[in-house]
Amino acid sequence: MTNWTPNHGQDFDPVPYRPERMPVEQSLRTAAELRSRMDERRTVRMFSPDPVPTQVVLDAIAVASTAPSGAHQQPWTFVRVVDPEVRKAIRAAAEHEERISYDGRLGEEWLDALRPLGTDDVKPHLTDAPELVVVFQQRFYLEPDGSSRKHYYVDESVGIAVGMLLTALHLAGLAALTHTPSPMKFLGEVLNRPRNEKAFAVIPIGYPADDCVVPNLVRKTLDQVVVTV
Ligand SMILES: Cc1cc2nc3c(=O)[nH]c(=O)nc-3n(C[C@H](O)[C@H](O)[C@H](O)COP(=O)(O)O)c2cc1C
Repeated sequence: MTNWTPNHGQDFDPVPYRPERMPVEQSLRTAAELRSRMDERRTVRMFSPDPVPTQVVLDAIAVASTAPSGAHQQPWTFVRVVDPEVRKAIRAAAEHEERISYDGRLGEEWLDALRPLGTDDVKPHLTDAPELVVVFQQRFYLEPDGSSRKHYYVDESVGIAVGMLLTALHLAGLAALTHTPSPMKFLGEVLNRPRNEKAFAVIPIGYPADDCVVPNLVRKTLDQVVVTV
């Protein structure tokens, strides 16, 4: 297997793809199990400081990086933040932005939508969780000479990758939060990211605290989300 490399303008080079077909019984069993396991996933905001196995996080990022992406440009960077000092700096900057947001920038309608979640401008998960994965979108490809190439469907691609990351973390026994402090510009500055990268989300990862609680939310039923024509 060769390494990924930008392939702008390369010729079509097909290779066979003939995965063994899964027997229907096994398919049904697997889907039902996954459905049940994924229904147990919850966004966690109260973390234990216990460390998590690094390899589990790396494997989950590797899963995320298998996501489909526009023109196979894989426009994502996952920055693992394990240094407590850097997490402290991120928390201070995030809480600064969140204070302004909760003090009125969000507007009444948004604050109303958030009320059932019990969130506020204090973000202890940013320092309690043993690591953060900050996901960056590569808005364009930066060539080594400083010139750039367009990336396509960046929002969609990175969104799918983050969904796969959250799924992998959950199935491997870890809890996570999708945190989107707004605006997020400070993340690129604190983490010293190049000019083509824009922060997409901060994902604290760990185990739930012993006294963890989550909002009592109800999910839509299948009937409410599926339309078959
Ligand atoms: C794009 C996106 C942004 C989110 N931003 C935040 C956030 O900034 N802070 C937070 O506490 N939760 C955030 N969440 C988590 C949602 O509130 C949570 O997924 C939702 O309430 C459903 O709960 P569940 O994940 O436990 O099913 C975000 C989720 C998504 C998908």
